[in-house]
Amino acid sequence: MKLILLGAPGAGKGTQAAVISERYHIPQISTGNIIREALKSGTEMGLKAKSYMDEGKLVPDDVVIGIIKDRLAQPDCESGFILDGFPRTIPQAEALDSMGVVIDKVIDIEVPDDVIVNRMSGRRVCEKCGRPYHIVNLKPKVEGICDDCTGALIQRKDDQIDTVKARLDIYHRETEPLKGYYEKQNKLYVVEGQNSVEETIALTMKALEA
Ligand code: AP5
Repeated sequence: MKLILLGAPGAGKGTQAAVISERYHIPQISTGNIIREALKSGTEMGLKAKSYMDEGKLVPDDVVIGIIKDRLAQPDCESGFILDGFPRTIPQAEALDSMGVVIDKVIDIEVPDDVIVNRMSGRRVCEKCGRPYHIVNLKPKVEGICDDCTGALIQRKDDQIDTVKARLDIYHRETEPLKGYYEKQNKLYVVEGQNSVEETIALTMKALEA
């Protein structure tokens, strides 16, 4: 199964993608996590992306398209994958099409902006594997420690309130038009994501089985 998860920053894409990945045994490909990893390792690409990311802006299309091309060529993507955070612009979606990638479904997680702003302030992520948690809604088993890899949980720089608002503006302008793009291809499934994590997971699974 080849899937795309669409949604505003903080809509819960990463949370849903982790569950789908585990249930369907397909890799979760998060461009955000790949870029953060490159930044940590100090690669040229990571350093180039840093200023965009810190300000909540999108990293240029050619950089992200290159990342995805390399990642999808890995053997673990042969039987499917979940794209979490890609595409984010129409040119990125067109690039995916021109790579010959046939997507089965696009799950769009819809959450009102005010709910997102509240959520982001409580988000913590694993500094090792990137798995998201929340200080109230999605706690780890042991405080401050990732359930999966025992990495330390930290707050992301771009989760500060002004940066979150800037990311939301960019989402509405650049990413939201992708809904129409995939609706035309009859691939779009809308999931309401403003309720609990468990309720959203149930709705996502229903959309995947539809
Ligand atoms: P990226 O890491 O992809 O950030 P994002 O899309 O802004 O997504 P987030 O990770 O912030 O949120 P999410 O939807 O995954 O939500 P989560 O599950 O964590 O990208 C970061 C940056 O990289 C971009 O700004 C850009 O600079 C660059 N970049 C990446 N891809 C790019 C691309 N394709 N093109 C150009 N630039 C790119 O959930 C959020 C919080 O809410 C968590 O705390 C979670 O526990 C909690 N939560 C989740 N679901 C629920 C629920 N149902 N109820 C209550 N709480 C919930």
